[in-house]
Amino acid sequence: MKEQLEEILAEVQKSVGEIHLRPAFESFKATISGPKGKLTEAMKGMRDVPKEAKPAIGKLINETKQAIEEHYENTLSRIEQAEMAARLGPAIDPTLPAPDRAPGGLHPLTQTRRRVVDIFRKIGFTVAESPELETEWFCFDALNTPDDHPARDAQDTLFLNKETAVTNVSRHGDDPSKEAYVLRTHTSSVQIRTMLAEEPPLRIVAPGRVFRRDTVDATHSANFHQFEGLYIDRNVSVVDLKAVLDHFVREIFGDKVETRLRPSFFPFTEPSFEMDIRSANLGKLSNKWMEIMGCGIVDPEVLKAVGIDSEVWSGYAFGMGIERIAMIQHGIDDIRHFYQNDLRFLKQFA
Ligand code: PHE
Repeated sequence: MKEQLEEILAEVQKSVGEIHLRPAFESFKATISGPKGKLTEAMKGMRDVPKEAKPAIGKLINETKQAIEEHYENTLSRIEQAEMAARLGPAIDPTLPAPDRAPGGLHPLTQTRRRVVDIFRKIGFTVAESPELETEWFCFDALNTPDDHPARDAQDTLFLNKETAVTNVSRHGDDPSKEAYVLRTHTSSVQIRTMLAEEPPLRIVAPGRVFRRDTVDATHSANFHQFEGLYIDRNVSVVDLKAVLDHFVREIFGDKVETRLRPSFFPFTEPSFEMDIRSANLGKLSNKWMEIMGCGIVDPEVLKAVGIDSEVWSGYAFGMGIERIAMIQHGIDDIRHFYQNDLRFLKQFA
């Protein structure tokens, strides 16, 4: 019996190494441990073992069974690994770069903002910034906007709780003053901050976020982006303004663009204009006049408010919506697309 068991174990040891597939393993296992298997048969011999030898043989049987079980387990886990590897395909090389994650792209508004900044930088403008949270003075008073101007109405402008506002503005290094606080309704406040901080001549552009109490629809958003320009020098005229803006629109919308200045009104420019463009090259928007920005000659009252001598210095200013420029560039018909983070939209610009 002892030899029998040793033989069976030896057979198992020898054979399992050659088994690579589950069916082969199962049928081999049956020849050993199945109802008619060699081990099962051998164990039946227990009956004929003399009583005194029974404990020793019983122990041997158990050890043999255990050893055989171990071989089964090892073989099975080897087979399972092979099955898994077969399912995963060719071996993975962990040193390779991560598989094909599409690189990120810039948001269309970021692209348009950068494009606009680049155009003006090339002709000598630098970028200025100032806080989104403003006092009424920077947003309206210094810009010659009367107390009863409709833009200052609580219907149109987001006013802030004063206690919160003071701490926020102080972080930008400003003196908390007596005025009410507003979320700036336009980037024209940057004109004032720049003129107070620097001496003319000045040539700045200021892209930034602005806030209005608007009901959101296809062309309005309570939070959007503007692009301000300010040029202060000696003897500045409408001709200078028109030349720079014509250059800008041709750079951004192409050579075919026609422009016109239409008389308008802003409290901080005099005369004031809306600039319209028309082009044969704008897809669905081709060949119709579209308003793209407000502009004008800086009102002497504004220069006075910031202590610049309007007898010596003059200038022009302009302001446009970055969303609007991007919508015309790409033929986008709803401003809400910019803020919904829908990859199907965003990927078209990446
Ligand atoms: N601030 C104006 C607006 O938001 C635009 C503008 C800027 C007009 C500068 C003239 C000069 O509509």
